[in-house]
Amino acid sequence: MCGIIGYTGHRPAVPVIMDGLRRLEYRGYDSAGLAVVEGQQLRVVRAEGKLSALDACLEGLDCGLALTGVGHTRWATHGLPVVRNAHPHQDASGRFALVHNGIIENYAELKAMLQAEGVIFVSETDTEVLVQLIAREIASCGDVRQGIAAALGQVEGAYAFALIDRQTPDTLWAGRQASPLVLGLGVAEHFVASDIPAFLPFTREVVFLEDGEIVEIRPHTWAVFDARSLGVKDKTISRITWDVQAAQKGGFKHFMLKEIFEQPQVVRDALAGRLRGGGVVVPELDGLARPERVVVIACGTSWHAGLWGRYLLESMAGIPTQVETASEFRYGGFVVRPTDTVVAISQSGETADTLAALRLARQAGATVLGLCNVVGSSIARESNRVLYTQAGPEISVASTKAMTSQMVVLLLLALHWGRERIGGSRTETILHGLAALPEVLEATLPGLRHQAQALARTYAGCRGCFYLGRGPMYPLALEGALKLKEISYIHAEGYAAGEMKHGPIALIDRDFPTVALVLRDELLPKMRSNLQEVVARGGRILAITNPGVEVPATDLWAVPEAPAPLGGLLVLPALQLLAYEIAVHLGCDVDQPRNLAKSVTVE
Ligand code: AGP
Repeated sequence: MCGIIGYTGHRPAVPVIMDGLRRLEYRGYDSAGLAVVEGQQLRVVRAEGKLSALDACLEGLDCGLALTGVGHTRWATHGLPVVRNAHPHQDASGRFALVHNGIIENYAELKAMLQAEGVIFVSETDTEVLVQLIAREIASCGDVRQGIAAALGQVEGAYAFALIDRQTPDTLWAGRQASPLVLGLGVAEHFVASDIPAFLPFTREVVFLEDGEIVEIRPHTWAVFDARSLGVKDKTISRITWDVQAAQKGGFKHFMLKEIFEQPQVVRDALAGRLRGGGVVVPELDGLARPERVVVIACGTSWHAGLWGRYLLESMAGIPTQVETASEFRYGGFVVRPTDTVVAISQSGETADTLAALRLARQAGATVLGLCNVVGSSIARESNRVLYTQAGPEISVASTKAMTSQMVVLLLLALHWGRERIGGSRTETILHGLAALPEVLEATLPGLRHQAQALARTYAGCRGCFYLGRGPMYPLALEGALKLKEISYIHAEGYAAGEMKHGPIALIDRDFPTVALVLRDELLPKMRSNLQEVVARGGRILAITNPGVEVPATDLWAVPEAPAPLGGLLVLPALQLLAYEIAVHLGCDVDQPRNLAKSVTVE
């Protein structure tokens, strides 16, 4: 997610903006920039890489009289992380400068319309389209506020933006739609930012903007308007009691918990621009034939996402699918044919084993499709095509929201490649369920966390535990076990439930409980039999299931039912929260577990 800060007041704007961007660095970014209004001129400075590079560009520049400006740290979604794509972006006349966080879904259509009117674009970003559109509408109506509203009325997607105008040096405009933006109220100075830490040292008085609102700020005045009617909105002023570090976590105790609770938005962002006319659109695959065979290569949690995706690619799309850990793929001598499509799944896009396996696949002539979260990462750049999961930066070492975004994209792939096989009604049911999923998750997560806290007190003392599942729940059992292992250091075994009786059942006793993933599906009777085997040996069972499902268990933990195969997207947060609360109960360092690195860039 990008970082935005805007300022107008009595201080030199550049130091305030740079200070604010530094407090937003935790959000992750790959380029940065700022623009200030000095007299009737705009000064725009941008740099690739970290803020130190921007600092270097600012040396020697005297912008001391500039009291209004905007700054931005960019997390690339459209266009590589290079200077021409860095924010702020200006309109063709150079009158306006704008910074943006979000995804303009219809940017291609808007860009074509503007190009047809003679607008020349200098970047690949959706943001430049937004500022050019705003400038067009302002030129047409002659009023900045009305022009912004007219432009936003044509925009589809998510945005938080801040805009300055060299013709009004003390004024700043901003607005939001499905992307966070908050107003900071100082004394003879005001701020806007994508997150509170950016201006917390200057003021704790904030106004939270809602979707469909725009704000106009000057050093001594501020006003919030409805973006369509331009009617003035009454807003509540809140006082922030957090410190900066707590604010960076959005008030959550750990980044892992914050990222678990970001998953509703992650689902929305993974779907952004990919649902149209009752079907799935994947422009990144244009011109590619339906694969004869898919080989997934990945590591860790991404490997689990691939294993889950296999069930969909085979049963829905009818594509033979093999899933390998990248480290085994590298040395296993496995057959890869030029007709294969190799899907390389990686949140960081820098995992050494996955990158090496990708290169082997390219050498074999296969088509490589990268499924990455970091734009411009090595795996993204070396893939033939790349599908970005758009989950925003994942700070916590334990991967959570990345897997949710990977599963959503894999489901879209299965629907896309299986569109000739899957009936229209099933597709409609799944897409309807996907569209509803963010709200279901938002309603469910707080209760799940509360229940996980209670369950943690019961299960934290075990010497180890099983995670059992069948079908698509088997990869989730593996993921649940990995989450527990890596942040609480309790040994856990993820197993295919049908495999348990072939030896591992010997482990069962009172201190080796079983977490069973048992949804209301065709495998429920089989799971019941497996759990009766566990009960017969005195094992405790925590069954993560759907409301009303009857299974032998010590504890029943219900997650909402969803049309197959969406159930896994509701089980996954429960597994994440269980591991999180057990680790917290045991006093572990949740965000930085021992021995682990966020991106394993070595063999
Ligand atoms: C997951 O919680 C781990 N941190 C780890 O297994 C991770 O998923 C793995 O290293 C792969 O990382 P990637 O997705 O960035 O390639």
